[in-house]
Amino acid sequence: RWSVDKNVDNLTGYPQITQAADLLLNNEVVAFPTETVYGLGANALNDQAVAKIFEAKGRPADNPLIIHIADEAVVSDFVEEIPEKAKQLMKAYWPGPLTIILKMKEGVLSEKATVGLSTVGIRMPDHPVALALLQKTNLPIAAPSANSSGRPSPTTAEHVWDDLQGKISGIVDGGPTGVGLESTVLDCTEEIPVILRPGGITAQQIEEVIGKITVDPALLDSGQKPKSPGMKYRHYAPDAALVLVKGEREDIQRLIFEKQQEGLKVGVLTTEENEYFYQADKVIACGSRKNLDSVAGSLYDTLRNFNSADLDLILSEMFPDEGVGQAIMNRLVKAAGYRIISI
Ligand code: TXA
Ligand code: MG
Repeated sequence: RWSVDKNVDNLTGYPQITQAADLLLNNEVVAFPTETVYGLGANALNDQAVAKIFEAKGRPADNPLIIHIADEAVVSDFVEEIPEKAKQLMKAYWPGPLTIILKMKEGVLSEKATVGLSTVGIRMPDHPVALALLQKTNLPIAAPSANSSGRPSPTTAEHVWDDLQGKISGIVDGGPTGVGLESTVLDCTEEIPVILRPGGITAQQIEEVIGKITVDPALLDSGQKPKSPGMKYRHYAPDAALVLVKGEREDIQRLIFEKQQEGLKVGVLTTEENEYFYQADKVIACGSRKNLDSVAGSLYDTLRNFNSADLDLILSEMFPDEGVGQAIMNRLVKAAGYRIISI
């Protein structure tokens, strides 16, 4: 486990980066920070290297990995064509939390990473440590979030350690990540691009650059099969059952007392605004409603923190389904296994 200061100049010259890059070049797996969440990286050109990612995470074999790059020029090595809209988005939001799905060139990337699909998701992370590793190795790096499959994605090196210690070759600790939720996954193989996973770049930001887009209908309806393989799994879940509650804080408090009377230990996920209003077995404030970016930034850490309290039930407030709120609600709804009640 290496600590690096992400703000120093010339990170590529640092011994920690050299050691981590050497492991990646030797087809080992290493976790590193990006601006969204920590990733678990491996050489995307090598089947054995990529297989180690699936092994360490316990990841379902049909779930494709995002390919990380540091230089836009290499995209054409991996894809058949780059549509005009994709080019405009790369210009506007790379490096940044936007993964672009394009038609793949056969026979270049490891099929283990793309799981036999005809498309590939590519992104350029906006984090000095990730970019230094990509530059130093000069490899495309396949990297899912560096959590055990099903657990909340890691936003600190500590989270990665808790999930994957003993299963991977190293962790580069660059401090907490910024955005806190994963990249937006946008399918650009269609004339009208489709959001497969909401994330750090909002639908509105994308439409400002390329006009009308759509959203995979499965994101709004748990009955439909999502276009992105990873979106069908239960994910991000804390140990206790999580339920989202539409209602006023007084109603939520009444429900907490009711459940406690039934003998359950109950937690509540709220924000700074209501932190001192609730009485429960555990109250965690996740950022402030005045700044939804702060909620996104601490959501996964909050979900993990509930695990220390041995709860039976966690009730969560809802968030507005707009801007970064769309990604927050998408993750919360999945963490809750689609359990939402109105009171
Ligand atoms: O912010 C992020 O994107 C982080 C950091 C580490 O870069 N990575 C990440 O990877 O979240 P992962 O593997 O946890 O999620 C990748 C998502 C999955 O839902 C996967 O199914 C989808 O992207 N995906 C990848 N390639 C795809 C493809 N060709 N077609 C459809 N969905 C794809
Ligand atoms: Mg993930």
